[in-house]
Amino acid sequence: MQTVLVTGGTGYIGSHTSVELIESGYKVVIADNLSNSQIEVLDGIKEITGVRPDFEKFDLCEREKVFSLFKKYRIDAIIHFAALKAVGESVEKPLEYYYNNIVTLINLLQAMKKYNTSSFVFSSSCTVYGQPDQLPVNENAPVKKAMSPYGNTKQIAEEIIQDTIHVTPLMKAISLRYFNPIGAHKSAEIGELPLGIPQNLVPFVTQTVAGIRNKLSVFGNDYNTPDGTPIRDYIYVCDLAKAHVVAVKRMLNNENKQNFEVFNLGTGNGISVLEIIKTFENATGKKINYEIVGRREGDIEKVWADTSFANKELGWKSDTPLDETLKSAWEWEKRIRNIK
Ligand code: UD1
Repeated sequence: MQTVLVTGGTGYIGSHTSVELIESGYKVVIADNLSNSQIEVLDGIKEITGVRPDFEKFDLCEREKVFSLFKKYRIDAIIHFAALKAVGESVEKPLEYYYNNIVTLINLLQAMKKYNTSSFVFSSSCTVYGQPDQLPVNENAPVKKAMSPYGNTKQIAEEIIQDTIHVTPLMKAISLRYFNPIGAHKSAEIGELPLGIPQNLVPFVTQTVAGIRNKLSVFGNDYNTPDGTPIRDYIYVCDLAKAHVVAVKRMLNNENKQNFEVFNLGTGNGISVLEIIKTFENATGKKINYEIVGRREGDIEKVWADTSFANKELGWKSDTPLDETLKSAWEWEKRIRNIK
């Protein structure tokens, strides 16, 4: 059995990916400091798969502990999710973001080199494209100056990985640029658990309907889009998780075409904020209390993915309908709030 180290494996995307890995026959070792996730997520993974992944609680900034982990397990591949990810917070605390997101990466790459682990999957973001000049945006679009320290850590990380691979023939990596991951596992055993007030749209929607938030603020309806609200490419988290398994397999089976590859993970569909609201209401029968307010600083107008490269090269496609995805988010919210 091949072993995959999933850093940040108790987090939102990490937990869904751990499920898909286990269901595809991999042994999963999770490393997480639980700074933005809870240990009970392991119970959810066990409930779905019948397997409780090995779990190591520590901070990947601690180099010696990273090396001890590689000594303890024979790791075949790494999927690196562990990172700070709040855009606004990163503007307030740039050094925390640079330190965390970059030091953890360097420690992992050094340990990979020392222990001859070949394959690395990196959790990147469509934020590297900024506001693209052409839509849908493909992987060859220029990387634009980051709008936040968070976004900059993703750009810098991709460069560090590329430079390392360039001089380390045994190593290869795939950077997956996510568009907007939403939804929860259909079992409602795992899902997104934001600490405090959600910054992202869909958790804010589900918490508003659950009565935890008063009202959803729609940040601006004066954009140059058909209904005036910003457009994103919302992708079901389980579809996204499956792409990670494909990426790991591709490298472990030596099917990668280059030692460093980049793929967009999106659906190819651009959806506005008002369309999310309408689709959620139709899918769940629940009304969302919302009001239009001013724009949120740093938001771009519109972005959606050209997925043709990922579809063709990875033989992967995100095809879960948006209404099903939004319903899964609501089922998860109901479950954790004990709503019937
Ligand atoms: C951004 C980044 C993404 C990053 C993510 C991390 C881009 C294109 N995407 O996602 O790479 O990983 O942050 O958090 O830069 N909205 C509201 N009301 C709310 C919340 C959101 O109207 O209460 C709107 C936003 O204005 C936006 C859309 O909903 O148009 C999605 O917002 P959000 O879920 O925060 O994701 P992004 O900002 O697109």
